[in-house]
Amino acid sequence: TDEIQTVLLGDGGVGKSTISNRLVSNIFIEEYDPTIEDSYRICCEVNDEVYIIDMLDVAGQSEYSVMRDSYMRRCEVIIIVADAGNENTFDEIKVFIEQAQRIKDNICVPFLLILNKIDLVDNVDPLMEKLRKIGENSESAFVEYIAVSAKSGFNIRSITEKVVSIAMIA
Ligand code: GTP
Ligand code: MG
Repeated sequence: TDEIQTVLLGDGGVGKSTISNRLVSNIFIEEYDPTIEDSYRICCEVNDEVYIIDMLDVAGQSEYSVMRDSYMRRCEVIIIVADAGNENTFDEIKVFIEQAQRIKDNICVPFLLILNKIDLVDNVDPLMEKLRKIGENSESAFVEYIAVSAKSGFNIRSITEKVVSIAMIA
């Protein structure tokens, strides 16, 4: 069994913990309880192979940002979550990508950018376009994209497939 180490980054409240809980127990948690640090193990099967995705779920609030270096160092796929209902949460993505590239000495770093809470918007396309622009402007980064709703469950399972495929390429 292959184990894939990942970390979930993104502003406070974008839905990192809610996505994790959807993946692990298929439940939606309505109340907001800010995270200090949790970790989840998600077992999945892709192309007849079993994988365990280890997800580190950390605080989005910036006072804990000094910890990010060590999270990034030990993970293979960096997952960054943005909130479709709050475009301010796009601002830090670039910062995370650049920090990871610095830490990994510019070795091609694989990212998954998740647009969460798409249940809150009518049109996802312009937001995905904006995310793609951010990813494409980053050299020596391999970036994949997915739009999901942890509330409805839409596309949540596809996150595991994306993570596995990214880890294979990297
Ligand atoms: P920190 O732990 O502080 O970094 O926040 P977080 O990114 O873990 O956010 P969390 O998962 O706690 O979610 C914050 C709030 O957003 C909660 O009230 C969730 O119910 C809500 N939420 C999460 N995902 C969705 C979604 O897909 N749609 C909607 N409408 N709300 C969501
Ligand atoms: Mg959280």
